[in-house]
Amino acid sequence: EENPIPSPPQKYNDLISALPLCTSLPHLSLRQYQGFWFPDNWLPSIMTMQNHFKARPTDLILASYPKSGTTWLKALAFAVTTRTRYPLADHPLLSLNPHDCVLCVDELFADGHASKAEALPSPRLLATHTPYSVLPDSVTSAESECQIIYVCREAKDVAISGWHFGQNIPWLHVEEQHLLAENLKLFCQGLGPFGPIWDHILEYWRESQRRPNKVLFLKYEEMMEKPVENVKRLAEFVGCPFSEGEEREKVVEEIVQLCSLEKLKNLEVNKTGTLASTNIPNASFFRKGEVGDWRNHLDPEMARSVDEVCEQKLRGSGLTL
Ligand code: A3P
Repeated sequence: EENPIPSPPQKYNDLISALPLCTSLPHLSLRQYQGFWFPDNWLPSIMTMQNHFKARPTDLILASYPKSGTTWLKALAFAVTTRTRYPLADHPLLSLNPHDCVLCVDELFADGHASKAEALPSPRLLATHTPYSVLPDSVTSAESECQIIYVCREAKDVAISGWHFGQNIPWLHVEEQHLLAENLKLFCQGLGPFGPIWDHILEYWRESQRRPNKVLFLKYEEMMEKPVENVKRLAEFVGCPFSEGEEREKVVEEIVQLCSLEKLKNLEVNKTGTLASTNIPNASFFRKGEVGDWRNHLDPEMARSVDEVCEQKLRGSGLTL
């Protein structure tokens, strides 16, 4: 029997409206909560999640700052963990966008109930953009058995990817190119959805150092360079390593192929479909997937402004972007 949770608007509206507000971004309002900037329309669900999500020992949670490779990680983790269930030739990823295969726990509590999350059978594969320190204890406590895979991406490429994402979504359309400079200034102040990016990255990085068998820290650039090695790492981490037979039969390479940007981008579902939950065009999640695309958009001074703040914030952490 489910305990009804008061609907989020009633319970959280007063709390949310008292939080610091940022309306400098053209397409969304942000609220500062527990040190991070959240899209204010996500907060009711995230706060409900924080209070009511009960992680199971078998949960696998994919975490990321937006535009860091979430879609790719979802596809890869889904393909790896379900590989005995689905033949690669007739795979759900051929007809569903990765975001419809792996649901975002931040959005599952939008109706104020835990029921959607509770109804999912184990083992659950879920995703989140919520910073580590904001996740519920059932995920982060020392006793928690659930596992997290984080994907990190170089900050300038994240900023550029986010900029294009805003351009590609009809109702987020931002026309004037000079606004990119404005957008980047805000990014360097930590003002973006789930920002500051450096704190987001650092929290997961530190936890991956502290509990390496519970938090796996992947880098987008390393995955691009060595996809096979990184997919093997992922499979070992979640306790389903590829067998010698699978390696001989090139199953890892086939998964990498299935989840590649070229393959996914050109599927009918991703050319024409929209996300089940939000109506965002599937195509907006697939652009170039290039390391260093920032070079095509940022002048040296703009690039330096991002590098400087990230270097300063990450100094001493053992992590470089
Ligand atoms: P670019 O805008 O630089 O091309 P997210 O999935 O977190 O929203 O991030 C989106 C970024 O990941 C976009 O980067 C997108 O092109 C890239 N991406 C999407 N699917 C990918 C895949 N299968 N392989 C590599 N990169 C991918």
